[in-house]
Amino acid sequence: MKRVFSGVQPTGQIHLGNFITMQNFVKLQEEHDCTYCIVDLHSITVPQDPKELHQHSLELAALYVALGIDPKKSTLFIQSHVSAHAELAWLLQCNIYMGELSRMTQFKDKSAGKKAFSTGLFTYPVLMAADILLYDTNYVPVGNDQKQHLELTRDVAQRFNNKYGETFVVPEPMISKVGARIMSLDDPTVKMSKSNPNVHSKICVLDPPNKIKKSIMKATTDSDGIVKYDEENKPGVSNLLTIYSVLSGMTIEELEAKYEGVGYGDFKKDLVEVVQNKLEPIQKRYHEILDSGEIIEILKEGAKKAEAVATPVLNRTKERLGFVAK
Ligand code: TRP
Repeated sequence: MKRVFSGVQPTGQIHLGNFITMQNFVKLQEEHDCTYCIVDLHSITVPQDPKELHQHSLELAALYVALGIDPKKSTLFIQSHVSAHAELAWLLQCNIYMGELSRMTQFKDKSAGKKAFSTGLFTYPVLMAADILLYDTNYVPVGNDQKQHLELTRDVAQRFNNKYGETFVVPEPMISKVGARIMSLDDPTVKMSKSNPNVHSKICVLDPPNKIKKSIMKATTDSDGIVKYDEENKPGVSNLLTIYSVLSGMTIEELEAKYEGVGYGDFKKDLVEVVQNKLEPIQKRYHEILDSGEIIEILKEGAKKAEAVATPVLNRTKERLGFVAK
């Protein structure tokens, strides 16, 4: 079995783009040994409200389980519960160059125009490399925007192996196409994003039915009234078709045939129902897991399982560096 590792930040609400990515995580656990991490250490690279961070971490964990991550098959844990992450990040930091981190586009974007930002924002990719390398990871399912960080992870793993002897498994990215293609409802030329202040730009997994309805009915389309997939000329309609297709399991072609001669209004009404019906049972399960406290037990178990894999890798790294064992 190949090892899969991925992380999601516990910031903001989980929207449909994230949801689709996480659904892919659920599928992967059938064939691989999967570890999914709630990366709270990454979240504090930018200011966080402690109460909100706490809440969001538990919510994200419960949502993972509600979506179908099975704690018996996969390892689900919170990054800060396993101290090896922060520790390996330091060891790697001493083997990554300023120039490399300065070239990271996410850092450039996030720091652009800011008078002050934390050094953690700069070293963010090092911690991400530590996350991945600690689990002898073969595959990392991530969006396209994280590809550069993956390249850096591979570079540092190879560099370390060459210098100190075989230590790390060199991971490969698994770029998921669909999740990354979910666009904003108000402006279908940009990705659906947690940080977009317009609530109707996105649908969140925990949105109530009336909010889902409002956001979809308001979604930007075009004026030619034909339900057809054409990313370039009809980005709004194409985005709605993508959402419809992934949530219903119907192909785009089947949907185009079904809505031939049907106006956008009726098409959107059906989509509202599809989204509401998909999310309702997930929301119910989510509240059960969170309210019963079941999630606390799952995370405790998860941290134990994660530690059992991460600690030997950390010790192996220290040994290679010449550190004296305790
Ligand atoms: N940087 C990733 C993101 O924002 C989150 C992340 C942290 C991650 N550590 C990871 C993803 C390790 C994959 C593997 O999307």
